[in-house]
Amino acid sequence: MATPSNASSASSSTASQRWSSRWLFVLAAAGSAVGLGNIWKFPYIAGENGGGAFVLIYLVCIAAVGIPIMVSEVLMGRQGRSSPIHTMRKLAKASGRSDRWSILGWMGVLAGFLILSYYAVIAGWAVSYIWTSGSGTFDGASAETVIASFDAFLASPMELIAYQTGFMILTIWIVGRGVTKGLETAIRWFMPLMFLLLIALLIYSFNSGGFAQGFAFMFDMKWEAVTADSWLIAMGQAFFTLSLGMGTMMAYGAYVPDDANLGTTVVTIAGLDTLIALAAGLAIFPIVFANGLEVAQGPGLTFVTLPLAFGQMPMGSLFGALFFLLLSFAAITSAISLTEPALAYLVEEYNAKRQRVAITLGVICWVLGLGTVFSFNIWSDVTFVGGLTFFDTVDYFSQNILLPLGGMLITFFAIWLLPKGMVETQLGIEKPIIALVWRLVGGVVAPLGVLAVFLSTVWPMLSGLWQ
Ligand code: PHE
Repeated sequence: MATPSNASSASSSTASQRWSSRWLFVLAAAGSAVGLGNIWKFPYIAGENGGGAFVLIYLVCIAAVGIPIMVSEVLMGRQGRSSPIHTMRKLAKASGRSDRWSILGWMGVLAGFLILSYYAVIAGWAVSYIWTSGSGTFDGASAETVIASFDAFLASPMELIAYQTGFMILTIWIVGRGVTKGLETAIRWFMPLMFLLLIALLIYSFNSGGFAQGFAFMFDMKWEAVTADSWLIAMGQAFFTLSLGMGTMMAYGAYVPDDANLGTTVVTIAGLDTLIALAAGLAIFPIVFANGLEVAQGPGLTFVTLPLAFGQMPMGSLFGALFFLLLSFAAITSAISLTEPALAYLVEEYNAKRQRVAITLGVICWVLGLGTVFSFNIWSDVTFVGGLTFFDTVDYFSQNILLPLGGMLITFFAIWLLPKGMVETQLGIEKPIIALVWRLVGGVVAPLGVLAVFLSTVWPMLSGLWQ
């Protein structure tokens, strides 16, 4: 097996590649962060858990948990300048720690595979709904028709596989072309288009007649709706939405130019992600309320409530199609980031061609994704531990176990085990007071926050198993 230093010098893969500018890194990382989580999850959990009060709590979680973990990942990536597995190996060596810390990189690779396997399936639904909506299928349709149409779609494995395959091929084609030609080109196109679509949808929703109600749902200070659970939900969301805990940001961090200031860069990324989540809520809920519908989250909101609402509105098929285009763009920029930890590792380790590695990874992910496709039809009765379907199991294991565990250990390592000087030089910290605040927030508050989320989600599952 090649040693990390051999590997990086033998291949031009990670060590020598850089984002063309700090801004491209900001856009790439924001592209990874903004995904299904921002559009179908955040707006709903904010509305249900206290509106404006929840938004404040969420901002605290982003600042106290999300930002420190992201800074840790990016700084380790830039220091190691390799894939997360090799970076962890190098950094463990440099700090005199066990080589076993590289397991964090492996956990990230596994999480990336699992998440991408189902992300591609669900993104495929969004792509298919661009046509379904755009062709006017839902114009004036009743709730029954919209529900029946979604159910029929889910019941057809071949259709789901066709869209999953298309999405996967596009993802693999982009990542196979490399950082500058593939990732950057995609990001230069998709991110501005995504902003434009969001603005168009915001204007549409502003004129829908339900804006005041949608705004109140998301921003009225409903402190009475805030519970201890709301804090955990906010923390879990802060974590998933920023793509933390699986080495994505570490892999992207490996390409960050030396002169970029990590603190301000990460704050900008987190700010953009939050802004888009809030804007998504303001684009979605007014349309739902204007049509007297009940709010929901996840697939129910996206593939039933929204098509129904758009179907009742003037130019609804056009704006419905634009909404699904927005969702597809958000998903593809997240999907490409999910492959990077594994891709960079294999290219370095075997000095292999990026394209070939990308295709191999894509095929494995595609096969794994078939499990998710079948969970909605022929395997819907097949359940694993805790009565979860294949899709639910993959989702639970990656999101609730691998990511929090990874995030907690990464920050712990960055703050307590890396040589102090290394971190301070990477972050440009000069004042001792800033170093202290960084250690307290990043080294204590962030890992404990993640631990709380981790225990609160895993505990009920474990106690259910023992009963
Ligand atoms: N942040 C993405 C979202 O909000 C999901 C994601 C998680 C992407 C981890 C990459 C890595 O949907």
